[in-house]
Amino acid sequence: MARKPFIAGNWKMNMTVATGTQLIKDLAPLVKDANCDVALCVPAILVPAMTEAAKGTNIAIGAENVHWAASGAYTGEVSAAMLKDYGVKYVIIGHSERRQYFGETDETVNRRVLAALSAGLTPIMCIGETLSQREAGETEAVITRQLDTDLQGVEDITKIVIAYEPVWAIGTGRTATDEQAEETIAFIRRRLAEMYCPKCAEQVIIQYGGSMNAGNCKGLMAQPDIDGGLIGGASLKLDFAKIVNWDK
Ligand code: PGA
Repeated sequence: MARKPFIAGNWKMNMTVATGTQLIKDLAPLVKDANCDVALCVPAILVPAMTEAAKGTNIAIGAENVHWAASGAYTGEVSAAMLKDYGVKYVIIGHSERRQYFGETDETVNRRVLAALSAGLTPIMCIGETLSQREAGETEAVITRQLDTDLQGVEDITKIVIAYEPVWAIGTGRTATDEQAEETIAFIRRRLAEMYCPKCAEQVIIQYGGSMNAGNCKGLMAQPDIDGGLIGGASLKLDFAKIVNWDK
């Protein structure tokens, strides 16, 4: 079965109820005939209003993080059940900004992934190497280490979306070349085939993320192993629709 492409936005800490609602209203008619799945991952506090704004459209609403515990004394955190309450479908886990600024480790990524799965959310699990790791020729070792720990205890790999986001390409305007992105994503798929089974690995949606935009999306999406994108900056504007419609 062919994999259905999946383009997701990551608003990060941007937008308000008013600007977000307006953007979804403007995007909806532009993306309605998309041949891919479409989602916008938004700050937790905007989830209720954006779910409302996206009602009746083909834009699914996702979150940007989730806590691993079902409930409890975790001031400031949001549980998977709270997201589910609002019909959230996807949740970004292990974004490099969380790893860099908020002490996220492969162990906590793993716990969040397991919590999301058991609540019926689809994790968009982010992995990727830093510039110094790439320059030291460590990309595949880093990816292998991340996959090994982040996926511990995950039985059905087809329930997870993986976003390969080279840290050096995020928000920098410096995109990986089509070949670099394809090479690493194909490596991820081969590794998943070893960890699970070749047939399962063939079904996993693997996105590229890192300065993907209206200008470079066609080339990236043409690569055989790249099934979509996780879009930061370009998801804050109507350009997002151009990426969603890369094939038109
Ligand atoms: P960017 O962000 O598209 O702004 O580089 C991508 C991401 O962080 O998911």
